[in-house]
Amino acid sequence: MSAPRTTVRYLSAGRVIEVADFPPMTTLLDHIRLERRRTGTKEGCGEGDCGACTVAVGRPVDGRMVYQPVNACIALLGQIDGCELVTVEDLAAREGRLHPIQAAMVEKHGSQCGFCTPGIVMSLFVLYHGDGPVDRKAVTDQLAGNLCRCTGYRPIVDAALEACAGRGAGPIDAIAAAEAETLALIAAIDDARDLTVGTDQSFFAAPASIESLAALVAAHPDATLVAGATDVGLWITKQLRHLPKIIALGRVAGLDAIADHPDRLEIGATATFAAAEAAIGGIDPDLAEIWRRIGSKQVRASGTVGGNIANGSPIGDSPPALIALGAELELQCGTELRRLPLEAYFLEYGRQDRRPGEFVRRVIVPKLVPGQVFRAYKISKRFDQDISAVMGAFRLTLDAGRIVAARIAFGGMAGTPKRAAATEAALVGVDPADPATWMPALAAIRSDYAPLSDMRASAAYRSDVAAGLLEKALIESAGTATDLTRITGQREARLDRVA
Ligand SMILES: Cc1cc2nc3c(=O)[nH]c(=O)nc-3n(C[C@H](O)[C@H](O)[C@H](O)COP(=O)(O)OP(=O)(O)OC[C@H]3O[C@@H](n4cnc5c(N)ncnc54)[C@H](O)[C@@H]3O)c2cc1C
Ligand code: FES
Ligand code: FES
Repeated sequence: MSAPRTTVRYLSAGRVIEVADFPPMTTLLDHIRLERRRTGTKEGCGEGDCGACTVAVGRPVDGRMVYQPVNACIALLGQIDGCELVTVEDLAAREGRLHPIQAAMVEKHGSQCGFCTPGIVMSLFVLYHGDGPVDRKAVTDQLAGNLCRCTGYRPIVDAALEACAGRGAGPIDAIAAAEAETLALIAAIDDARDLTVGTDQSFFAAPASIESLAALVAAHPDATLVAGATDVGLWITKQLRHLPKIIALGRVAGLDAIADHPDRLEIGATATFAAAEAAIGGIDPDLAEIWRRIGSKQVRASGTVGGNIANGSPIGDSPPALIALGAELELQCGTELRRLPLEAYFLEYGRQDRRPGEFVRRVIVPKLVPGQVFRAYKISKRFDQDISAVMGAFRLTLDAGRIVAARIAFGGMAGTPKRAAATEAALVGVDPADPATWMPALAAIRSDYAPLSDMRASAAYRSDVAAGLLEKALIESAGTATDLTRITGQREARLDRVA
C-alpha cells in the first residue's frame, strides 16, 4: 500500500490548488475568505441556514462535470479534495463579462444591499448548469436555502427564469466551455490514494477505500467521522467543539453506492440525500416529498442518509420513514459486518448501538409490496428548510379492505425515532373506510408516546398532531383523494397561478 498523500488538492479557476498543514477543523469558508482572500463569498449565519456562503462544487459524473451548491460555512476544507471549487469571483472573471445569471440579476433588479447576492448567484449558477426544464417551482426549490431580507424574491426568481430560458439545451458559459480541460485536470489530481494531513494526534484524514477506512477507525476510535458535515460543521462553528482527529468519509470508494433491486434499495452510508432522491422517491411519492423538504438544496447536496441515521437525532427525517418501511442497518467494524433492524440502533436519547471502531456501512430498505399503503408527513413551522416538530410514517398492509399489519414510526415524539407498538397492534382488523373502527388505535397512539415540550412544539400539540396524522393516514388509505387532505397540491396550484 502506498503512503498517504499529505496535501489536499482541488481545482479553482482552471488551476490546481494544493494545501498542506491546515488545522483539521478548517472550514471551507475560512479557507476561501482568509487564505484565498476571495471575500465575495459571505458569512451570514455560520450554520447552513442562510445560503450567503454558497459556493459550487463540481465533480465528474459519467464524463461530465456536475455542480452542487455547498454551504461553505459548515463544509470542511479537506472535503473538496479532488473537486472543482467555483466561487462568485470565478463567474465574471472567466466570462470576461457578467455571467448570464449575474446579468439577469442586474436587469431584473434582483439585488439591494447585496449581502445575499453572491450566494444566490451561486445557487442559480448550479441551477443554470443542471439538467431539465427550469420553471418557477424549480427556482423556488433551488433558492429554499438562500435568504434575502431586502430585495424580495420576485425579481430574483424572474432573473433566474430569464437566464435559464436563455441557455437552450445546456449551459452557455466559460465554465461549460472549459469542461473537457476541467475533466482532464480533475483526472490528473485523482490519485485514489488515502489522504492524511497532520500528525497522529491531530489530523484530517480522507481514506480512499473501505479497507483503509476500517483500519483507520479501528486505530482511532476517538476520531470524529464526517460525512457531509451538515451536523458536524455546526459542532465547529456554533458549539466551538475541539475535534482534533477527523476522518472524512467522502472519498471512500463504494461507500456511497446505491443498489436498486426489485425488492429492496441498498443505500450506502455516504450517499447524499440528493443522490438518493430519485431511488427513494421511486418507492413512494410521499418519500419524494419528505426528501424534498429536508433542509435545502445545499443541505441535501452534502448531507448523507448515513449521517442522518448515525447522528441518532430524535428529529431526523429519514429514520421514521425508513423504520416504517422495515429498513435494516448494516454496520462494519474491521472486516466484520452486522445487521440490525433500524429501530434497534436508537437505544435512547444520545445513545446508539454503535461500538468503538464501528461505522455505518449501508441501510437496506424493503420496497412496498401489493396491498401495502405508505404515508409520511413532516410537520414543521416553515414548509421549506426547517427541522421537524413531528414526523410520522405509516406502512399499512391491507387485505380485503382491512388492515392486517401496520408499521408506524414517529420522530419528535420521544428521545429517539420510535415505533408505535400499541397503535400498530390496535390497527389490526381496522377498516380504514369505517371511522367507528379507528377509536382503539387513536387512543393507543396517545399511550405510545410521552413527548416533550420544546421550542419547536408543546407536548400537547405533538400528541394531537400524532393522532391527527394517524387519522389522515387512515382516511387516505381508504382511497379518499389525497388532495382533500394535503396542502401541498394547493400550494403548487398557487405557485402556478403566480407564474
Ligand atoms: C440548515 C440545515 C437544515 C437541516 N434540515 C434538516 C431536515 O430538514 N431534516 C433532517 O433530518 N435533518 C436536517 N438537517 C440535519 C443534517 O443535515 C442531517 O442530519 C444530515 O443527514 C447529516 O448528515 P451528514 O452527512 O451531514 O452528517 P455529518 O455531519 O457528517 O455527521 C453527523 C453524525 O453522524 C456521524 N456519522 C456520519 N456518517 C457516519 C457513518 N457512516 N458511520 C458512523 N457515523 C457516521 C458523524 O460522526 C456525526 O456524529 C439540517 C441541517 C442543517 C445545517
Ligand atoms: S453563512 Fe449562512 S449558510 Fe453559511
Ligand atoms: S439584497 Fe439584501 S439581503 Fe438580499
